[in-house]
Amino acid sequence: MIDSKTKLLGLIGHPVEHSLSPLMHNSALRDKGLNYVYLAFDVHPDKLKYVVEGAKALGTFKGFNVTVPHKVEIIKYLDKLDREAQLIGAVNTVKIEGDVALGYNTDGLGARMALEEEIGKVKGRDILVIGAGGAARAVAFEMAKDNKVTIVNRTPEKAKLLAEEISRKLNREVGYGDLNVDVGRYEIVIHATPVGMYPHVDVKPVIDVERIHSGMVVMDLIYNPRETVLLREAKKRGAKTINGIGMLVYQGALAFEIWTGVKPDVEVMKKAVESNLY
Ligand SMILES: NC(=O)c1ccc[n+]([C@@H]2O[C@H](COP(=O)([O-])OP(=O)(O)OC[C@H]3O[C@@H](n4cnc5c(N)ncnc54)[C@H](OP(=O)(O)O)[C@@H]3O)[C@@H](O)[C@H]2O)c1
Repeated sequence: MIDSKTKLLGLIGHPVEHSLSPLMHNSALRDKGLNYVYLAFDVHPDKLKYVVEGAKALGTFKGFNVTVPHKVEIIKYLDKLDREAQLIGAVNTVKIEGDVALGYNTDGLGARMALEEEIGKVKGRDILVIGAGGAARAVAFEMAKDNKVTIVNRTPEKAKLLAEEISRKLNREVGYGDLNVDVGRYEIVIHATPVGMYPHVDVKPVIDVERIHSGMVVMDLIYNPRETVLLREAKKRGAKTINGIGMLVYQGALAFEIWTGVKPDVEVMKKAVESNLY
């Protein structure tokens, strides 16, 4: 029940109406008996500057997730960033502590946890990241800590810039290239573009799926639909396939713990997401 002690959490993005985060977080909050409510806020980029000050002023607003297009822009309104957010240069979780707004990034670790849940510890592997946008950035930074990473993108210059930035910051070699890459040379392929996402579910994948074979793991960060054309083609060729639900759940679970200090039940979160997908 919502009462005068209820605390507020939320998501800010533009748009947000299709987000599954409110369902996922409210299910987990209810499951743990925590007196919070999580809402989605469609914040126009022009209004972003008011959000952090407003949240601090309200007092009961304890934190929020940040999604497209605000993940980088929000940084200038925050007081402190944790190590991951500083490294990645983007924030997906903000915690409000009195008059201090702290920025975190749980996307990279969330993706690693989802991948490791399926295939065990991922270290020293040859990984291809497809895309150089926000999600690719978080995933590539995380995986490059202890794996050999190559980034490919439709606009190859962006892949080059991201690879160079990661190489510089982590002091590790990161490769780059275009979408004509031979995907069959990699042990793990992580797809981080929106191609194949609902409602354009039949669009051809951006890489040559013919090269996928049974020794590979193919992860698609898309969670709607659960099985994209890329994952369907990869499965047909015997590869291990992983969709984006795990990453969504784990990045959310990490944020939940940052705000509440309580570890949520990831199975409850997963069920809430899955019951609302195709
Ligand atoms: N599971 C999760 O928790 C989770 C979390 C975050 C994101 N995601 C998913 O990850 C995907 C990417 O999100 P994002 O936030 O990184 O988006 P973004 O920042 O807008 O980046 C989009 C990337 O996709 C590429 N791209 C876009 N359209 C393309 C096309 N038609 N052909 C080839 N490449 C194309 C872009 O290439 P250019 O540089 O050439 O434009 C860019 O590299 C989305 O599907 C999103 O739903 C999932």
